[in-house]
Amino acid sequence: MEQAGILGLGCYLPARKLTNKDLEKMVDTSDEWIVTRTGIKERRVAPEEFAASDLGSEAARAAIKDAGLNPEDIDLIITATITGDMAFPSTSCVIQNKIGAVNAAAFDINAACSGFVFGITTAKQYVDSGLYRNVLVIGTEKMTSLVDWTDRSTCVLFGDGAGACVIGKSKDRQIISYFIGCDGSGGNLLRLPAGGSRIPATEETVKNKLHFLKMEGNEVFKLAVKVMADAANKAITKAGLLCSDIDLLIPHQANIRILLAVAKKMGLPEEKIFLNIEKYGNMSAASTAVALAEASNEQRIQKGNDVVLVAFGAGLTYGAVVIKW
Ligand code: ACO
Repeated sequence: MEQAGILGLGCYLPARKLTNKDLEKMVDTSDEWIVTRTGIKERRVAPEEFAASDLGSEAARAAIKDAGLNPEDIDLIITATITGDMAFPSTSCVIQNKIGAVNAAAFDINAACSGFVFGITTAKQYVDSGLYRNVLVIGTEKMTSLVDWTDRSTCVLFGDGAGACVIGKSKDRQIISYFIGCDGSGGNLLRLPAGGSRIPATEETVKNKLHFLKMEGNEVFKLAVKVMADAANKAITKAGLLCSDIDLLIPHQANIRILLAVAKKMGLPEEKIFLNIEKYGNMSAASTAVALAEASNEQRIQKGNDVVLVAFGAGLTYGAVVIKW
């Protein structure tokens, strides 16, 4: 029976690499500290003139082509980002215009690093209900634009990139279950304080660096392990499966130690986790989007496999989807 599934995948990574050695020249850090504490060796940095919509448009074009469609066939664009081009119009609207998806409605989702998972679950509703045929979901981030390059505890973690998928009625690569959740009480652990209606931009906010990302790394770490394992387990149970049935876990690439702890909690061997954090760092909503496209390109997934995409992020948000490949 047909239901919402993945029709096409694509991703885009800017060419410029920023290595840990490069960071050693910028802040008081070392390659050894970054690798052992995070698993990251390098990350990508988008050109200055590039915004999230430029990265997202490249990934979108690749996903549409992979689905064998044209931009005019897209009915809806959902972009997950926390680094949108500007507060409004939405980055989805900018992308709609850039790629020529003239028949598409468009809106953004802000669920931070969980945004791509939230986007897929949203797309599924539109497709399964019959409201739309082809929904383009994009995760795109220019994280380097909101990182404080003098703060060693955060600047080593993030990178830029974009991934996308087209969701439509399909006999394979079906989204067979999902779970999304939120714990707003943890909102202060990860945030960008100024520039919104609470603290509008002033000379003072710029001077006090309130337009950069702030994070309580230790607290986030502990919660991340719990909520990612819980979200994945809930989606797996909803699909009528057991953890032992899962062929590949594709987690949000936040920190290698978090990912290995999640796998341990779920009883999954390391070879069943997809990891690319070493190359890209944390790309927020783009992380799971790029990882899914790469896992597919690298043939890490075979037909009939049960694949779980799981993420957590600022909000705190968390979620997982199970895909029967
Ligand atoms: N280089 C060298 N030393 C450093 C660096 C660095 N880049 N950063 C911090 N340190 C130091 C600290 O100052 C501290 O020194 P001290 O003991 O003298 O005070 C020491 O290293 C240990 O610091 P911790 O913060 O305890 O290090 P921890 O092992 O917790 O690692 C990290 C920090 C990597 C940030 C970790 O906590 C983490 O990964 N947290 C989760 C982050 C995350 O997943 N965020 C996700 C979502 S992002 C989003 O949604 C947008």
